[in-house]
Amino acid sequence: MKENSKSLASMKFYIRTFGCQMNENDSERIAGILTAGGAKMSDSPEDSDLIIINTCAVREKSEEKLYSCLGRLAPLKKRKRVVIGVGGCVAQLYRSEIMERTPFVDFIIGPDNYSQLADIVHSSQEEKVVSTSWSEDFHEFPSEMTLRESDVSAYVTIMEGCNNFCSYCIVPFTRGREKFRAKENILQEIQSLADNGYLEVQLLGQNVNSYTDPESGKDFAFLLRELNRVDGIEWVRFITSHPKNLNRDIAEAMKESEKVCRQLHLPIQSGSTSVLKRMNRGYTREEYLEKIAMLRQLMPDISLSTDIIVGFPGETEDEFQDTLSMLAEVRFTNIFSFRYSPRPKTAASREKDSIPFEEKKKRLIQVQELQKKMQVEFNRSLIGRTMKVLCLGKSKKDPAVYAGRNQGYQVVNFRSQKDVTGQFVEVHIASCGPYSLVGETV
Ligand code: 5AD
Ligand code: SF4
Repeated sequence: MKENSKSLASMKFYIRTFGCQMNENDSERIAGILTAGGAKMSDSPEDSDLIIINTCAVREKSEEKLYSCLGRLAPLKKRKRVVIGVGGCVAQLYRSEIMERTPFVDFIIGPDNYSQLADIVHSSQEEKVVSTSWSEDFHEFPSEMTLRESDVSAYVTIMEGCNNFCSYCIVPFTRGREKFRAKENILQEIQSLADNGYLEVQLLGQNVNSYTDPESGKDFAFLLRELNRVDGIEWVRFITSHPKNLNRDIAEAMKESEKVCRQLHLPIQSGSTSVLKRMNRGYTREEYLEKIAMLRQLMPDISLSTDIIVGFPGETEDEFQDTLSMLAEVRFTNIFSFRYSPRPKTAASREKDSIPFEEKKKRLIQVQELQKKMQVEFNRSLIGRTMKVLCLGKSKKDPAVYAGRNQGYQVVNFRSQKDVTGQFVEVHIASCGPYSLVGETV
């Protein structure tokens, strides 16, 4: 070992994660690798010798969050000897910029390079390391090495990357082309999770609906039907689905498989066919609505959520109104809505970012207000019902209250006489807010 450099075994580490479930899962892997090397996880940066910021590049805001987080770490770096690393797809894309803007960063690691993490942490104590190579093939990551946040619900990656090139999206440039994981490996991991007491799995991928087993050529619908047979797993969810790849067979596989939750995240992005065309989404408003109708015909109680972008280049008032009317027509259980921000390398970033910031803000508020109103109405309609909830632990805000999710992936906060963490419980809903339901166990 080099002089002065600390071994992993004597280190405490802190990980800060920004971004999607995929990033959260990457952080669980990073934590697993560091723990296997003997390092100890800490919940405070001040108390750590190694700090890793794992962040995504999908929206401009995530990038801003990275720099403000690094800015807060600068004084710490002056005060004490601490190794600072940046991971995730931001790292992949902005390696030179990060090193220039925040020269105190010791290493940068891309999502395909985590297996070398221990060596990188070691070398970076002597000189800066940038490791952002990527591979064309799916890299298996040992499940047992993942230090999962939850003992109940686990993320399971089934594919990585994306071939779709939506004109606003950076992902094909940060995560590369689609790479599929072998079905047998997915099934094995899920069986071992079940054997270890996990009750729920969330399949992850940028476009899970295009899943194709590299060995047999079997598709996503086939995978869902196989997963339904894994003993011990009670709930299966998946994210993210692309509307153009969501077909009747997948919907029928969902309906037939009682373990597959009646819940689907199906990002529409805009309710306007002309904007969807400029976004290169590959479907029209009408085609999207037909798929929603097909899903609801097969599963009347399905809970639907979506992603919306407002202020895409050239989005007219009429086109924006189409988004509002689409939201009113579908009535999603939940939405995630964003102001458009131009991302490097994307086709849309070559267009003028023509909608002023204030207008984007106004449109975002309109979207969120409309959705909030509909969510309150929907949640109120659930008051008085009893529903199955998977208890994930104590609520972060109030330790006397438990928090879980129902089949529709809504947050349910509830009181219980005994600790029911990690169990399915029946909860009677007594009240609600726009973003959660409140009740008690029956
Ligand atoms: N600007 C704003 N939102 C974006 N998203 C992706 N790229 C951008 C961008 N350039 C949103 C989409 C996507 C979600 C993960 O992030 O809604 O579904
Ligand atoms: Fe991005 Fe489109 Fe791929 Fe989703 S489908 S990751 S929005 S390019």
